[in-house]
Amino acid sequence: MRTYRAAIVGCGPRGNSQAEACKAHPAVELVALCDLDEQRLRAAGERHGVRALYPDLETMLAQEQPDIVHIATRTDLHSELTLAVLRPGVNVVVEKPLALTLAGADRMVAAAEEAGVQLAVHHQWSLSPQQRKAKEMMAAGAIGELRAVQSSGKGYYGCYGLMNIGTHILDQICNFCGEPEWCFASVTVGERDMAPDDIVQMPHGMGLGAGERIFAHYAFPAGVYATSEYFPRDPIDVRAYGVDLIGTEGILSLRGAGQGVLYYYPDKVWAPQNADRWQPVHLSEEESTLYGHSFAALSDLWMVEEMVNCLCEGREHATSGRRGRVVLEMIMAVYESQRRGMRVKLPLAEREHPLQRWLEETGRRVPALEIVAYREWLPQVGKSK
Ligand SMILES: NC(=O)c1ccc[n+]([C@@H]2O[C@H](COP(=O)([O-])OP(=O)(O)OC[C@H]3O[C@@H](n4cnc5c(N)ncnc54)[C@H](O)[C@@H]3O)[C@@H](O)[C@H]2O)c1
Repeated sequence: MRTYRAAIVGCGPRGNSQAEACKAHPAVELVALCDLDEQRLRAAGERHGVRALYPDLETMLAQEQPDIVHIATRTDLHSELTLAVLRPGVNVVVEKPLALTLAGADRMVAAAEEAGVQLAVHHQWSLSPQQRKAKEMMAAGAIGELRAVQSSGKGYYGCYGLMNIGTHILDQICNFCGEPEWCFASVTVGERDMAPDDIVQMPHGMGLGAGERIFAHYAFPAGVYATSEYFPRDPIDVRAYGVDLIGTEGILSLRGAGQGVLYYYPDKVWAPQNADRWQPVHLSEEESTLYGHSFAALSDLWMVEEMVNCLCEGREHATSGRRGRVVLEMIMAVYESQRRGMRVKLPLAEREHPLQRWLEETGRRVPALEIVAYREWLPQVGKSK
């Protein structure tokens, strides 16, 4: 079996987790780490037993010649760093969400296509054993025909929930439904419609966002509809984080952090008086583990496995850059629909951020990117200006 040389850019929590996953894969060798922060870089080197440590990406690429680079930095840096890795023709796994704008996503997808390499977005939940099991059960007719998907975030403030968690949820919806044709959304703050003065820079470099409560409705081919809701909960509760697949004969529900639990409801109509009919779907050890690791313990390993399989088989990654761009279209379409007060067709013609356009059209200043933590940002957002 061929061994692939992997490197990590960004040694924060996500980079470290992906380093663990690379080390756990028999066809991957973790050869180098890169971080601007010397302390983090050294600590990650010690933790993973990696000696090749670089503060500079270009030097790492030139000296280590990796086959796969994982980019685990803040979202505002994804586009630029991905392009730098794609330039010499190296495969990329970039953290979610793919980019801050569709224009940025377009450049990333085009660069990967030109280089003829893989660009994957770290939407690992779409690769979970539970999602695979749900697909198998659907193919075997467990829920009849899929008619609707209902989903919600775990309770972050609306716009931040949409970009941070919605990216995973919408990717899973695409996994089951394909690419949406249109979006109709409502974005509100308290009891009123969101307005341009509500537009802010979101925490952790996630770009422009607006709205406390977001309700999005998407139409897919074959008459399947999906809804996705993001509003603040106190406290945040992962039980709310889920995707329900509603069919003509039953329901499958992916729940919990990372959608790591699957439930089945074997009836045409869900009614609270029949709550005892919900059954957890148990997966065998073989179905739920990879190289001795459970998905709950090391979900990132499933991303590494998918990349290795794609490189061996010469096929596109299941959570590819192209799919990550569809997901970003679904996020941007929410704001475009709110701005225009109507359904919007996908893909969007406008590639810059719809909220930036809204600000510019109404003569407002675009707030500068500002890196704050969610906890510090939350008390300030949504206050009337
Ligand atoms: N897939 C998931 O389930 C999941 C979960 C949480 C976060 N994320 C995503 O992961 C990403 C990173 O999250 P995190 O919490 O680890 O971030 P973090 O900010 O804690 O760590 C990022 C690291 O990148 C380094 N860095 C920044 N610019 C660099 C550069 N040019 N070259 C080298 N290193 C550089 C920083 O110094 C920092 O150590 C975000 O995009 C976030 O949305 C994904």
